[in-house]
Amino acid sequence: MHFYKHILSVLAGLALANFSTIEAKDVFCHYMVGTVDSSTNHAQLDIQQAAAMGFSAFALNVGAPTASWCQSTVEQLFNYANSNNFKLFFSLDLGQDSTLTDFTSLIQQYINNSAYYKAGPNNDPFLSTYSAGSTSPSEWASFKSSLGTNVYFVPDFDQVNGYYTDINGFFSTWGSTVDGVYSWETAWPVAQSSPANVSTDADQYVQAGTQASKKSYMIPLSSLQYKHLGSGTNYYRVGEVNLPQRMTEILELGKTSGTVAPDFVEVITWNDAGESHYIGNLWAEGIPANELAYANQTGWPHSGWQPVITSFIDAYKNGDDASSMAPPSGSTAVGAMWYRTIWMNATCASDPYGKPTGWQAAKDAVNFAVVVATGQTGLSIRVTSGGNVLQTIPVSPGLNYGSVPGMQLGSQKVELISSSGSVVLTANSAIDVTADTTTGICNFNYQVAGLQ
Ligand SMILES: *[C@@H]1O[C@H](CO)[C@@H](O)[C@H](O)[C@H]1NC(C)=O
Ligand SMILES: *[C@@H]1O[C@H](CO)[C@@H](O)[C@H](O)[C@H]1NC(C)=O
Ligand SMILES: *[C@@H]1O[C@H](CO)[C@@H](O)[C@H](O)[C@H]1NC(C)=O
Ligand SMILES: *[C@@H]1O[C@H](CO)[C@@H](O)[C@H](O)[C@H]1NC(C)=O
Repeated sequence: MHFYKHILSVLAGLALANFSTIEAKDVFCHYMVGTVDSSTNHAQLDIQQAAAMGFSAFALNVGAPTASWCQSTVEQLFNYANSNNFKLFFSLDLGQDSTLTDFTSLIQQYINNSAYYKAGPNNDPFLSTYSAGSTSPSEWASFKSSLGTNVYFVPDFDQVNGYYTDINGFFSTWGSTVDGVYSWETAWPVAQSSPANVSTDADQYVQAGTQASKKSYMIPLSSLQYKHLGSGTNYYRVGEVNLPQRMTEILELGKTSGTVAPDFVEVITWNDAGESHYIGNLWAEGIPANELAYANQTGWPHSGWQPVITSFIDAYKNGDDASSMAPPSGSTAVGAMWYRTIWMNATCASDPYGKPTGWQAAKDAVNFAVVVATGQTGLSIRVTSGGNVLQTIPVSPGLNYGSVPGMQLGSQKVELISSSGSVVLTANSAIDVTADTTTGICNFNYQVAGLQ
């Protein structure tokens, strides 16, 4: 049950930081609805793994609502969600299809399904979007009334003019349409020509508006964005420690004076191969060959990040900060290493699109995140690159992360070392770093290896 108490409006005048506007917090994962072969257990595995990770629901990104492959995949997911106590809701991809009435029959078909996720003061079916497309408040009013039931509407309308610069103006236009908002772009720094750190400044700006307008806020969490689909669609957004750094920042919201904890978190994404920020399965039957060439399940799995995300989900739900993140009980630590298989100065001469826009923001670094159990002392992380130890870094209980510069050619390794010097856990590279692209693609996707 998800219940919003707008305590702030009642207790006006009391310090913001002392109160949360929400009782229960949920974390979702953005799921690109593509072809899933119904003769496989692929839909079932997606649901089982996401549920085991602690996600409450998939946000089903639907961009082709009337396509038969879309309807088949949605049907498979609802079937398995029902038998796994997992929830789903629709996220209308208005970047692909901006005609709201195209979505009506699909939504009506599932909105009363027992696996459809609900939230808000009246526990209504949750509905989200990617983009606002070309829609207007009046279109939404008639669309919503055509659904035959109330919805709790939390769209990503962050492309709308004024969203990041005049949030009160945004809400004066859209306030009667939305129950909350989701920012997509704050998950990463913009593509740029030097390294950058992610921050929650823009989220906090929007949250001031959601507080004033009594709306909820859903915050995005992601790893990187590398998209390589043409000369105009070839860019990189950091990257390096973006994922654990943003976890830390999200968990600080509501704890530091003047900030408010977000009401929901949505991880970008479960399975978007094209943008490289997947954390789940990339089923080849639903992904074009030009995406699989740089992001595929066997060559570029990202599941090593999953245990760290699970620790984040637990901490977020408990209201803990990153230093209180914990591995599953009984284990010493969970974590992962990630790195690119080329140096930044690779010429990428054999790539038809060349180096991605924003490549200068990347670093030749071996990145890691490790979540250490309470009471574990004297542990350290040892980073070895091309056979040479780059650094040995002490780690303490909770989330630790780093980006160790000086990545060398060859194999990469991150080890968790005990105080006596023995190796507790190891993450080994599956693909060596080479001086230049050997596959023809200037691949800025990460190799991710879990600590085992
Ligand atoms: C869903 O349930 C509501 C409330 O019971 C009902 O009014 C509505 O007609 C149902 N919608 C569909 C599409 O069946
Ligand atoms: C990013 O944050 C790290 C750690 O706080 C800091 O050392 C670094 O200088 C920052 N980088 C930029 C570009 O601000
Ligand atoms: C998957 O990635 C690996 C490693 O780069 C590559 O060798 C393989 O060809 C890719 N698979 C597809 C289907 O492109
Ligand atoms: C490319 O970068 C690596 C390390 O980041 C460096 O060791 C190497 O000398 C550079 N190569 C060239 C040709 O500049």
